[in-house]
Amino acid sequence: MSRPRILLTRKLPTEVEARAMRDYEADLNTDDRLYARDELLARAADKDGLLVTVTDRIDAKLIAALPAEIRVIATFSVGYDHIDVAAATGRDVTVTNTPDVLTDATAEIAMLLMLGAARGATAGAATIREGRWKNWAPTGMLGREISGKRLGILGLGRIGQAVARRARAFNMTIHYHNRNRLRPDAEEGAVFHADAASLFRASDILSIHCASTPETRRIVNAETLALLPSGAIVVNTARGDIVDDDALIAALSSGRIGAAGLDVFNNEPNLHPGYLGLSNAFLLPHLGSATLETRNAMGFRALDNLDDFFAGRPPRDRVAP
Ligand code: DGY
Repeated sequence: MSRPRILLTRKLPTEVEARAMRDYEADLNTDDRLYARDELLARAADKDGLLVTVTDRIDAKLIAALPAEIRVIATFSVGYDHIDVAAATGRDVTVTNTPDVLTDATAEIAMLLMLGAARGATAGAATIREGRWKNWAPTGMLGREISGKRLGILGLGRIGQAVARRARAFNMTIHYHNRNRLRPDAEEGAVFHADAASLFRASDILSIHCASTPETRRIVNAETLALLPSGAIVVNTARGDIVDDDALIAALSSGRIGAAGLDVFNNEPNLHPGYLGLSNAFLLPHLGSATLETRNAMGFRALDNLDDFFAGRPPRDRVAP
């Protein structure tokens, strides 16, 4: 039987592409260009499946225009808010993601953001690089410790729990809000808040780990930021659209929010320019899963899902239909 034909919309790690070439008629993106909608559709024309990433907008219009042969879309990501799963389900197109394998890498970045924001890493690094460091000063560049503070986790799922484990090593008290309370063994002593407002009031540091859904979009806004204790820190490794940028920038500018550590943004890579002038914003370019071992694991997991699909087995990470 001929091998299934798949389109990889982005350049993937060498070992992942090698496996894709071994097992599929794989159309690689060796230049790593971002395919515009028309080019993506043209390349998809003779394929049986797509391997996409968070930079592809797989909306209802694109799904409707896909050739009927395409019955599976595997995304190289745990988040799948860039895919209209209802439209995929409507056309009986299977969608898979890559959970678990990026949990530790993303939790590490959350800790980096927390520490970088709390200790003023942006201002400190700029002082050195711009040649402005004149001497050590007892009262200069004072940050805050995260040790012993209350960490509020918005979304205590896989990544939130991995962050909580790391935060316990800093003697932080863990608070969380989820739609549903976890079992005690998964809570590991974390304090449950039945509503987000209650969590915000109890968070010296708020770390966002929920998926982007209609319920969570802009859940961090002027009203909810005002519930955080004065000088609180906001960390986001989930999705940019969970935060209202104008509100966070205003709160950081006034000092009402002490600092932010952000790895994800609305409209990436064209983030709100208001963040760039803020020395209390520690910013990274969506690096949560960016280690070679994790990116390999994500690629292998996406291929495992395609392998299952084309072998007639239910893919392990099916999110639709
Ligand atoms: C994901 O997997 O959803 C990340 O945002 C990309 O690493």
